[in-house]
Amino acid sequence: MLNTVAETNSATVFAGKKPPANRNRPISACQRMLDALHCRQVDRPPVWLMRQAGRCLPEYRALRERHSFRELIQTPALAAEVTLQPVRRFHFDAAILFSDILVVPEAMGQGFSFREKGGVEMTHRLRDGADVRQLNDREVTARLQYVAEAVKLIKAELGEGAALLGFAGSPWTLANFMTEGGSAARHGKALELFNSDRQAFDLLAQKLTRAVTDFLNLQIDAGVDAIQIFDSLGGLLPPEDFAAASGKWIAEIVAALPPSTPVIVYSKGTRDWPSLVGTGAQAIGIDHEIDLAGAVKALPRDVAVQGNLNPALLQTASPSEVRTEASRLLELMRGRAGYIFNLGHGVPPETKLENLEALVDTAQTFV
Ligand code: CP3
Repeated sequence: MLNTVAETNSATVFAGKKPPANRNRPISACQRMLDALHCRQVDRPPVWLMRQAGRCLPEYRALRERHSFRELIQTPALAAEVTLQPVRRFHFDAAILFSDILVVPEAMGQGFSFREKGGVEMTHRLRDGADVRQLNDREVTARLQYVAEAVKLIKAELGEGAALLGFAGSPWTLANFMTEGGSAARHGKALELFNSDRQAFDLLAQKLTRAVTDFLNLQIDAGVDAIQIFDSLGGLLPPEDFAAASGKWIAEIVAALPPSTPVIVYSKGTRDWPSLVGTGAQAIGIDHEIDLAGAVKALPRDVAVQGNLNPALLQTASPSEVRTEASRLLELMRGRAGYIFNLGHGVPPETKLENLEALVDTAQTFV
């Protein structure tokens, strides 16, 4: 029988194993994460992993045998359960809401499903300004109430046991899926629209900016502690176009959120540090192709840094190799107020659990 959040109480989140004791001063995991986001000194860097929930966990795969992905994200008790699974197992300092970036296009009238062989398929593709004008950016919060319900359940269960991160895709990254009509071997149509019909591109980005802002404010009102904006396709942009095609829209979103809610901007492949800092993000996510030491030098001291262990190691390396690489990153960042340990991208589905255990243990026992 499924042990949903609705059936449990907050004392049971950590049933079984106890979270590791705090060594220096009593600090909750939630506070550790928030302190690091605000570049305050902490006992050790907080740790969470992008895509920590999902197919890498046997308990997720067991639930997935009985429920579609859509059921999991649209049923608040199930979304809450999946969000909490990795926190129960690994005592991460942050939980990330279980949902998907594509729920925003769906709420605007462009639905999605999954292809048999992997990848996303959308109901249609946006070709031009006329298609963009059809998108409804005014009813996103009404259509995504199920997300607010999930956030409330998760927060009630988590308490201070971990920070809860809400998230959304960036307008640029969403525009890529929407103009391709799903996943593509090589995304190129959003850049094509940006170059050939700037008016249509800007209208699309404006509509997405409004929808994403409303969606993130919905999550904040429901109780998330911080936000991550996934600009996972930022690296597709020629550096000279990053600011106009992605950065400026992210900046508009950040400016429209309450200043008390920290925002992490993860723009995979982007090295335009001034534009990233210019978004107003409290923290910048660094991917594994980027040298972490170099990124830290390029960023102001009052901006937190998150990353960037190569996720491929979780599939291919041994636990001791994972420990060595995690320790190298932790040593490199020693003393830097405002460091959040994470991967450079999401946990691969074929991850070996013993590697995740080695990674988390290395980060949580770092002194
Ligand atoms: O990080 C987390 O644990 C929270 C949940 C989360 C999911 N998707 C769950 C999910 C988050 C933050 C996302 C973001 C997301 N979704 C992104 C940006 C982040 C990134 O990794 O770059 C993108 C590009 C998507 C769109 C999307 N959703 C794709 C391309 C796919 C894969 C389709 C496939 O064939 O596997 C998804 C599905 C998806 N989203 C899964 C999960 C756990 C797999 C669903 C399943 O089959 O169980």
